Amino acid sequence: MLSDLMLSALNAQITQEKFASATYCQMASWFAAQNLQGFCKYFQEQSKEELSHAQKFINYIWLQMGEVKLSDLSAPKQSWYNPIEVAKDALELEKNVTLLINDLMKFALSESDFATQSMLLWFIDEQVKSEFEANELLQKLIMIGDDKAALLAIDEDLEPTPNTGDFWNIKSDDNV
Ligand SMILES: [Fe+2]
Repeated sequence: MLSDLMLSALNAQITQEKFASATYCQMASWFAAQNLQGFCKYFQEQSKEELSHAQKFINYIWLQMGEVKLSDLSAPKQSWYNPIEVAKDALELEKNVTLLINDLMKFALSESDFATQSMLLWFIDEQVKSEFEANELLQKLIMIGDDKAALLAIDEDLEPTPNTGDFWNIKSDDNV
């Protein structure tokens, strides 16, 4: 069983994960409008991942016989100046989620809630990967500067193809 305070903290995290999903969806839409389909699909995949994170918290609350209570989502940012600005925001988003997950872990430790600590370990590992990936994309974009040909090459690299092990799908399967 979860304490009332832990239950409300976990419910709040569901909203944060859904907000991250909405933000990535909005980023994907911005790239679609720029005709950068690889970037669009990459951010769409991030959006799906965040939804699966929300679902993980929901499933955990159900398993602990708690009640899920969804809250309103604030609207995400809707436009960006260039791909670098999007990538910077994506990294900041992940850093913020890391802080929130860390806070949840601190709280679980303070309550000696071992089950929640165990569940959160997956998210702690996931955030390390997510920050690494977001930073990698940002650094590549900084490296190429205004080189449009290089931007298109990254866009092509980000396009998932069925014959290359479908990297992004493998990642989302891990989250189920
Ligand atoms: Fe997440």
